[in-house]
Amino acid sequence: MNMVELIEKKKLNQPLTKEEIQYFVSGAADGSIPDYQLSALLMAIRLNGMNREETVNLTLAMAHSGDMMDLSSLPGIPTDKHSTGGVGDTTTLVLAPLVAACGVPVAKMSGRGLGHTGGTLDKLESISGLSVDLTEEQFLQQVSDIGLAVVGQTKNLAPADKTLYALRDVTSTVDSLPLIASSIVSKKLASGAQAIVLDVKTGAGALMQTVEDSIQLAKTMVRIGCDAGRRMVALVTDMGEPLGSHIGNALEVKEAIDVLSGRVEGPLLTVALELGARMLVLGGKADDVESGKAKLMDALRSGAGLEKLRQMIRAQGGDPSCCDDVSKLPQAKVIVPLASREGGYIASMDTIRLGNAAQGMGAGRKQKTDVIDFSVGFVMHHRIGDYVAPGDVIATLHAKDAESAAVAGEEILQSLHFSPTPVPPCKLIHAFIDSGD
Ligand code: URA
Ligand code: CA
Repeated sequence: MNMVELIEKKKLNQPLTKEEIQYFVSGAADGSIPDYQLSALLMAIRLNGMNREETVNLTLAMAHSGDMMDLSSLPGIPTDKHSTGGVGDTTTLVLAPLVAACGVPVAKMSGRGLGHTGGTLDKLESISGLSVDLTEEQFLQQVSDIGLAVVGQTKNLAPADKTLYALRDVTSTVDSLPLIASSIVSKKLASGAQAIVLDVKTGAGALMQTVEDSIQLAKTMVRIGCDAGRRMVALVTDMGEPLGSHIGNALEVKEAIDVLSGRVEGPLLTVALELGARMLVLGGKADDVESGKAKLMDALRSGAGLEKLRQMIRAQGGDPSCCDDVSKLPQAKVIVPLASREGGYIASMDTIRLGNAAQGMGAGRKQKTDVIDFSVGFVMHHRIGDYVAPGDVIATLHAKDAESAAVAGEEILQSLHFSPTPVPPCKLIHAFIDSGD
């Protein structure tokens, strides 16, 4: 087989065969096909798309390009959840302990922060002593012991995606439905869960900014997952503003603990319950979404969810006392209020800019080698639809020094857009997709 012929075919908008797709995916994984030919093919795919069969074949080839996790030794139906990435999106830390407390094993491999989006691994590492680097044996042992582990990749999962994603990032070919869907689903298939709930974010802070495009992406992913023999459903949820009010690593852990302690309700809990209830249904521990939510709320009220988080922190070498005293989490040196200059109803937020503001404070990496400051970030005190008067405190900044607080404060103020007339709050759940058709 020859790469020029494959590029030519896709350039002429002809479908690629399973063998042709396997050929270029294994060449991407083992480095035998040069970047310029892969890049040309990616652009042809970006421009001409892929049909359903091609997209499934691409996903399966990428999933099998490296190791495949085998979770079959675990009791029950191992269940996972994946978010396409957002700001203040701490749902994993809320729902994973609740779902595990309800008897569905959660064997989760998470990621690091990327660009303006936070990463669960970085958040967890803000807990003193906690390690996310477990061996496969430790990972499986922990899930069979306590039903919950959230770790980094223990194996070489979907290496073709690493090559292709890095090329897409620098060739303007990220925004392709078959390429996004295959990238995300291949990693989920390789990580071994039998049941997967996808949280497809939509709006200003998301990969897909319109609800229509997000539903399309969700349907494509669910279709591939089901064709590949897994139980997969998706929710399309809002990212027109940060989901939780806390943005930053230790701050987001604090918010998750506040929610699990029953001290805080709101959109983060609402979305966590919607996603978690579907995990219970797919994992065979609830008959329907409503009874799933009721079980999760029982686990929250009884303290079983928070206890599950304590168990996980302890099992991964961390100090669980932060679950009872959140002041044990890393604290920023400078904590200052941010006052609004403008007044009115908050009409919209530039969510990506808010994520970037936290990253600029040190909560995320600009380069892979950057070291994260777990303590920094900010707390937003208002949501879209709220009325704010000039001078009202709109956020609290947690910074390493006064200068970075001032820079972030300006970014936050610039990210908010006001209306003189009332604005409705954002709808949180836009769609539920349980079949690709
Ligand atoms: N996240 C991924 O893992 N892959 C994409 O292509 C986009 C977002
Ligand atoms: Ca992602």
